Amino acid sequence: MKRSDQTVPLDTARRYHGLAAACLVLILSSHAQAQDPATPQWRPALHFSPAEHWMNDPNGPFLLDGTYHLFYQYNPAGMVWGPMSWGHATSTDLLHWHEESVAISSSPNEDIFSGTVVYDSRNSSGLGSASAPPLLAFHTSVFHGNPAHPDGTQAQSLSYSLDGGAHWRSYEQNPILTLEPESRQFRDPSVVWYPQGQCWIMTTVVADAQLVKLYRSTDLLHWSFLSDFQPSGYRKPGMLWEMPLLIPLSLDGNPHDPRWVMIVSVNPWSIAGGSGVQYFVGRFDGTRFTPDALPPEGSDPSAYDWLDHGADQYATIRFANTGTEAPLLIGWMSNWDYASTLPTAPWRGQATLPVQLALKTVDGHPTLIQTPTPTYEELIRRQGIAAFADRDLGSSQTWRVPLVGDVLDIRVTLHRGDAVRAGIVVRQSPDGRTGTVISYDFTTGNLTLDRSHSGEVAFSPRFSLTHIAHLSAPDGVLSLHLVVDRNSVELFANGGALRMTDLVFPPAGSDRVSLFSDGGRTHFTGIRISASAR
Ligand code: FRU
Repeated sequence: MKRSDQTVPLDTARRYHGLAAACLVLILSSHAQAQDPATPQWRPALHFSPAEHWMNDPNGPFLLDGTYHLFYQYNPAGMVWGPMSWGHATSTDLLHWHEESVAISSSPNEDIFSGTVVYDSRNSSGLGSASAPPLLAFHTSVFHGNPAHPDGTQAQSLSYSLDGGAHWRSYEQNPILTLEPESRQFRDPSVVWYPQGQCWIMTTVVADAQLVKLYRSTDLLHWSFLSDFQPSGYRKPGMLWEMPLLIPLSLDGNPHDPRWVMIVSVNPWSIAGGSGVQYFVGRFDGTRFTPDALPPEGSDPSAYDWLDHGADQYATIRFANTGTEAPLLIGWMSNWDYASTLPTAPWRGQATLPVQLALKTVDGHPTLIQTPTPTYEELIRRQGIAAFADRDLGSSQTWRVPLVGDVLDIRVTLHRGDAVRAGIVVRQSPDGRTGTVISYDFTTGNLTLDRSHSGEVAFSPRFSLTHIAHLSAPDGVLSLHLVVDRNSVELFANGGALRMTDLVFPPAGSDRVSLFSDGGRTHFTGIRISASAR
């Protein structure tokens, strides 16, 4: 069921969970990899990563009393995906995280898979009190060796906290939702308040059927089925749909044009290869989600909308209880194609930068706009921003920026002269041999992130090297915003209309930045760089 570069042993271990031989494979492989030399040079400064061991999906993020809580799929004892618990971290700015103790632990009879948290402020569930409302965590239970459920059953369960998220108890009537006996791939509950119907809506998936199932509830305990969402002609053998998410957003900020966006993580078939996150813009009438438009049957991934055009964003989820501001999202910065072979130690897995969302018409098409959070912008302002004079570069000319750093915020606007291609190299080594290249081809409209020479790339043959997205540059003008960390490059192009997230593993000392122009002249304006003091 789970995928990795060690697909055979890990799949086997999952399928025969509890068998001594499989456990041995898991223990041996985790042990061997925990011995790998530590890689502090790749420890992210601006992104959450656990101090040790494996993490995948972010789970149940929420804001309460000024503290952001992030939970995540966590194997507290190993460097590869294994028995899943919910790890826990807290932050006041979404950038600096404090790791807390494990919030919801797996047991030999139950894995705790992904889900969401809801702040039940009116105590509709009755699990808290009016003066001390409960937090409810909806997650998937995977049962093993439990006489009440066939082995491997995936069902939706509830845990609740009466102390602001520090401690969680399992609801006595679990599971609250099951498709038994056909429920081996039924998972990832996400719950959102639907004001028009004064009820809660839950989305879940039957992962291997590429099917989203919608339910409703008024007390958060009893759920009734509403509808299925499965675009026609979409089913692909072997493809999984995971972590569905329904978000209301008005188009172009117009409250009279409300839309709903269905975000789904898919694996494989992503635009950048392996796993990735796509979205559908449409309407929700309280029962059914209907996309506004779908590409013709048989279309390839490029005909669909993608939250991220890089390889390293998955299982993206929304923070709950953030008030009326724009929705905040956070994802897992990795790809199931090679997640279990990433060369970091003693941790493996990290979160993306949180972003805020809007829905705007771009080239006539409703498009998710993603930008770093106000807390990020505040950090950059506090750090100080170096502004550089505009530059003109002729054909095959480069300009090395007189500033160094491995954690950088970079903004620049490219104006086409008569160049074919122009761009920027980040995490470049002083000798120029390694670096991650972001380039825009003015003639084709292709924006490329090339990590072929970014440093360590050989740890997996499935670590894809170049990611390409089509983006129009009206009047030959393109704006780039890059968030560069010790092991990642996140690109927000044209004000967040296109996002690309990629892991990179550069050699120590790769802290240079260069601009370049090819096949003609390019004018660079608005060159602003902020280097992290950390
Ligand atoms: C997505 C996912 C979820 C599942 C979890 C298990 O990456 O496969 O569908 O709940 O990870 O760790």
